[in-house]
Amino acid sequence: MKLYRHFQDGIPWYLARHYWWAYLWSAAVWFFDHQPIINAILFGQYQKLMQATMSRLEWAPKERVLQLTCVYGKLTPKLVGMLQPKALHITDVATVQLKLARSKTSKGQLLATRMNAESMGYKQDIFSTIILFFLLHEMPPEARINTLSECMRTIMPGGTLLLTEYAPLPKQHCLYRFPPFRWLLTTLEPFLASFWQLNLESQLRELAAMHGKNVSLHWSKNIFSGFYRVSEFRVSSVSPLIRDK
Ligand SMILES: C[S@@+](CC[C@H](N)C(=O)[O-])C[C@H]1O[C@@H](n2cnc3c(N)ncnc32)[C@H](O)[C@@H]1O
Repeated sequence: MKLYRHFQDGIPWYLARHYWWAYLWSAAVWFFDHQPIINAILFGQYQKLMQATMSRLEWAPKERVLQLTCVYGKLTPKLVGMLQPKALHITDVATVQLKLARSKTSKGQLLATRMNAESMGYKQDIFSTIILFFLLHEMPPEARINTLSECMRTIMPGGTLLLTEYAPLPKQHCLYRFPPFRWLLTTLEPFLASFWQLNLESQLRELAAMHGKNVSLHWSKNIFSGFYRVSEFRVSSVSPLIRDK
């Protein structure tokens, strides 16, 4: 039975097909949004991952901040708390997720929009910081590139991109070396294998150049013995000398 067909309403194909049971089905949304569940999915690392992300946001420019797609757990209210009195922008393609994010914050704290991360309606150079928390590994390569390109387009020079994600291929990690686990993980996360192979920095550099910008890795921290990674990229404008060559 192709249950995912019930969830296709304006939803990217990969999300409806591979993740309806995690993000689009209201019973699942209720189930997964419990701190012990989301913590278990991240092998008990949720707190560390969130803290590392928050600690970098402290240093990042906070003029206008976008959380690109909703997440389970308490990250969104934490971000809202740090940005106050400014509102946090949040974009997701799933209405049920936006409703959940709204339910965790007070009126006026969240500027929520329903958009596809691959082609957002925001104008260029509008955000000082964009935060992506475990989004990219759930996307097929083309959607991932489109989304990163949108980040490079909408982050202003002087801005920051904060990525919390799986680290590159963790060949030495005990979980990766245990074949049944590797099989389970890559079955549940069908695009993770391609994300593991991605050279994020060089991909971002290429995309930034397309938008007349530079990007460089400013800081990163491995978590859970290199299984996860929090990375901070800084965006700048291309010097006029290089641009006019
Ligand atoms: C951030 S990711 C993974 C979050 C992580 N597993 C967690 O909850 O901690 C999941 C979210 O991304 C959203 N999403 C996936 N692809 C998207 C796209 N192309 N545009 C907008 N939202 C998208 C889904 O609707 C879902 O709310």
